[in-house]
Amino acid sequence: MRTLGIVGGGQLARMLTDAAHGLGLRVVVLDPTPESPGGQVADMQIVGSFTDPDMIRALAAQSDVITFETESADNETLQSVSATKPVHPSPQMLSVIKDKFAQKQFLAAHGIPTSEFSEITTPESAEAFGRLHGYPFVLKAKRDSYDGRGNALISDADSIPAAFEKLGNRAVYAERFVPFTKELAVVAVRSTTGEVALFPIVETVHKNHICDTVTMPAPVDSSTVEEAEALARKTLNALPGVGVCAIEMFLADRVLVNEIAPRVHNSGHLTIEACESSQFEQHVRAVMEMPLGSTKMKVPAAVMLNILGTRNGPAEPKGFDELQHEPGTYVHLYGKHESRIGRKMAHITVTADTVEEARAKADALRDRVSI
Ligand SMILES: Nc1ncnc2c1ncn2[C@@H]1O[C@H](COP(=O)(O)OP(=O)(O)O)[C@@H](O)[C@H]1O
Ligand SMILES: [Mg+2]
Repeated sequence: MRTLGIVGGGQLARMLTDAAHGLGLRVVVLDPTPESPGGQVADMQIVGSFTDPDMIRALAAQSDVITFETESADNETLQSVSATKPVHPSPQMLSVIKDKFAQKQFLAAHGIPTSEFSEITTPESAEAFGRLHGYPFVLKAKRDSYDGRGNALISDADSIPAAFEKLGNRAVYAERFVPFTKELAVVAVRSTTGEVALFPIVETVHKNHICDTVTMPAPVDSSTVEEAEALARKTLNALPGVGVCAIEMFLADRVLVNEIAPRVHNSGHLTIEACESSQFEQHVRAVMEMPLGSTKMKVPAAVMLNILGTRNGPAEPKGFDELQHEPGTYVHLYGKHESRIGRKMAHITVTADTVEEARAKADALRDRVSI
């Protein structure tokens, strides 16, 4: 039996593991938290940090192929491990993407439209950015930022000190605020033979910079779909690497790339129920050198709702059991022991005949659950 090693044991590893088991594989995950969401379902968990080279090597010793669910994985160790075991996606690609500023430079260098940006080293240089590009703008931490935790919106010069305070002493850059009408995302997969498949485009809605809902197919006109798909292909062509990646986009007067995630992504969770082969299955297929599956939808419409913690303390899932009985409603609890305000604890996908119906169904169940 072949074994997939996953660096990181969160909900992404959990859903990757389910897919890997469906394909007859063993899974080992590396995560610092015992009984992590991924560790609960994997064949084995190594308890250790994914930035610790010894731990990554221990994972590699147990695995035939290594992948990761977090950009925080130590890419220098992954690079050295890749001399003896396949590591997908490539650690070189991870090193470009894990630094958001380097990623923006990479996009700009490849002629991929993205919002104007500039490195910021002092509050004075932030003021200069505001004078040049106008307010509001977004200050972003270069590294280790996810679910909006590394972002601060700056509405005027007076709010610059507070933004620096929020982001601590981290290295930052500034980005022009995009007055988007919608946010879109394309999840894509590339196999070791270079075959590329795109999932249908989704619309994502963020609240407080955290993903709230995802809708497939994105309710946009066909010219926008074409523009977003062309941009996704252009971005993929610029990036080396095997496996799933997600490209987040803004729809403004044209489509801009917001950021790239070199892994399975929240905007693709609904592919489990909405598509012939989920993003998790596609990723496992790609990294294990198996043929890709179909990315086609198998239902007319789907909406995913993220369930975030609304308090700090032991998780107490409420209201989920009742939902399991409802047709076209799929509950995914991540098994996290501790709830925290804003922490991703679960998601629910609903399927329906139309986007409007799926959205109405999702809205109606939002207040029925808590954790
Ligand atoms: N330049 C921007 N203009 C407008 N909104 C933005 C901008 N950058 C980020 N946002 C909002 O914040 C969300 C999270 O930002 P993002 O940079 O994607 O961080 P994360 O790594 O946390 O996903 C985006 O999905 C979007 O809603
Ligand atoms: Mg994002």
